[in-house]
Amino acid sequence: MNQEFFLKAKEESKNSFPIFSHFPVSAAILLKNGDIVVGCNIEISSYGLTLCAERCALFKAYSDGIRKEDISEILIYHPGGDNLAYPCGACRQVMADLMKLECKVTVANDECFEEFTVNELLPKSFQPEDVR
Ligand code: THU
Repeated sequence: MNQEFFLKAKEESKNSFPIFSHFPVSAAILLKNGDIVVGCNIEISSYGLTLCAERCALFKAYSDGIRKEDISEILIYHPGGDNLAYPCGACRQVMADLMKLECKVTVANDECFEEFTVNELLPKSFQPEDVR
């Protein structure tokens, strides 16, 4: 795993705002031009309004004009060695819409990591092209 990329994601976890769950998650998106866009989970008192780290990072990227063709990979980080923070169903759908299906998704903590593609995490996904 690219160490600089991992450290950016780890650093971003300090901005996480998990005031109810106390479960920090951060995400880093590596662009093909080498830039990195980060995001973290932000929890809201009406819990359903909480924003996951992956969606935060992807929406930040898209709002800056970045598109799926520009994205190389994403890394999702949760501190601590006990459990990896696998992306939730909503984030898998957002990744399937906003990233190429063959893009790498790394799920990491300080002890270990696992790698997938977007397509492996959400096979046969509903796609923007399916909306006619
Ligand atoms: N969370 C993420 O940020 N990404 C995921 O894919 C799974 C869950 C966050 C949401 C919430 O703030 C906390 O983890 C506990 O569910």
